[in-house]
Amino acid sequence: MTAVGIDAIEIRSGKLKLDLPGTFAPQKGDDPEKYTKGLGLTNSSFPDVYEDIVTMGANAAKRLMDRKGLTPDDVGRIDVATESAFDHSKPVSTYIAGCLEGVYDDDFTHANKGERKFACVAGTQAVDDAYNWIRAGRNRGRSALVIATDTALYARGDPGEATQGAGAVAMLIDADPDLVELSIHQGYGSKDETDFLKPNQQFPSVDGKRSMQVYLSRMREALEDYESVSGKIYLDDFAYAPFHTPFPGMVRKAALLAYRHVIRDTTHEDELAGEIGRQPREDEYADREAYEEAIRGYMDELKTTDQYRTWYDDAVEPTLGLAREVGNWYTGSVHIARVSALRNALERDREFVGDTLLVASYGSGAQAEIHAETVREGWREEIGALDVDEQLAARYDLSWDEYEDVHDVHEYDKDLDREVEAFTPPDSEFVFTGWGRMNERQYEYVE
Ligand code: HMG
Repeated sequence: MTAVGIDAIEIRSGKLKLDLPGTFAPQKGDDPEKYTKGLGLTNSSFPDVYEDIVTMGANAAKRLMDRKGLTPDDVGRIDVATESAFDHSKPVSTYIAGCLEGVYDDDFTHANKGERKFACVAGTQAVDDAYNWIRAGRNRGRSALVIATDTALYARGDPGEATQGAGAVAMLIDADPDLVELSIHQGYGSKDETDFLKPNQQFPSVDGKRSMQVYLSRMREALEDYESVSGKIYLDDFAYAPFHTPFPGMVRKAALLAYRHVIRDTTHEDELAGEIGRQPREDEYADREAYEEAIRGYMDELKTTDQYRTWYDDAVEPTLGLAREVGNWYTGSVHIARVSALRNALERDREFVGDTLLVASYGSGAQAEIHAETVREGWREEIGALDVDEQLAARYDLSWDEYEDVHDVHEYDKDLDREVEAFTPPDSEFVFTGWGRMNERQYEYVE
């Protein structure tokens, strides 16, 4: 069977940044280490005044198409995953296609366009849709463009404010891919939850602490479901485990839970038994409360063991590199975790064609999805072509007052009585130029 997966990937960060320990923490009267060590974040990316989900998505897609030598005729499908859409009817993919058609000779008239919504997991769902479309043989030799793009903003003063971010990830899904092949096996954990939602509002209503519990529960269910089709998984099966990363501290918790699950009834559990005992089993306890207490004790000890630390430092920590610098990109978050892992492999000059990643996506509301990806021959060239370091280094560092102005500019309902000047000059990119007669957002390409 022909392999199907991600052929190429491009990342576009918002062009501004907020320094969390340096600018955000003093303003909130917090210890900077709450952000750097607790949440695990250093900076958040923000969009300049002329950037939004369309410009970031279109700029990522254009770089990807140019690098792969594609024109619109080569693309049979454009799906945008976002939870920051500004239009309840016209999909963001039409805006992005419109931008791209302005700079290429041919057009996307015969491409199927849509928009995917399920909080942050929608990016992975859009990749799935593209995968299925190619597998079904309906693509007529063309590839699919999947764009995960978000301005992940919270109301000012919300506890989630520290985890904001803005950026887009464009992925080309194709047969015989250069980067990674997707597994047929998948696991899901999905339940109706009200932990994070935006009922006709731009900024989310969030029950932060509960959202973390829901994330862990759905991940556990997805892992169990994945194993029910793939068979038991072992630690050595995967080179990296990229997770959806709302902030790195969340992944620290999820990784520990996954590790406990995966080593149960293996030689790894036996090896640790002398040091911290065996994992508590529910039938050994009088009630659920006593069992949960014992589990918490075991987890506290587990995370200090050399065996766990070595696995975490090797397979999980490298997936967090970009998230620490950019914050939560919602639908793009797990996809930049994958890129962080592959960048780490490149830095280490790792030989890992044929190695596997365990990719764990998540969206509030709530659903987790887990699948495996196998690294392909072209990964070095693809990852080596990214310009994300240059983009991050070039970001404009916002003062607190400037941050508040930028936040206001991007708040849809705010009645601004003053213009906010751009902080960076547009350079060879799509920019937002204003509203048209039907309140549509308008764009142009600036050389
Ligand atoms: P908070 O209440 O301000 O933070 O908000 P905290 O007091 O819980 O501190 C955070 C961590 O820093 C804690 O670590 C503290 O101990 C530590 P933990 O105990 O949990 O391991 N800390 C320190 N560490 C070192 N030195 C210090 C220090 N002080 C504190 N001095 C919260 C945290 C996550 C609730 C908030 O940021 C929030 O509401 N975020 C938004 C919701 C969210 O991100 N949830 C994650 C799961 S849901 C998800 O991933 C989906 C999502 O992406 C949306 C979607 O799917 O569309 C959000």
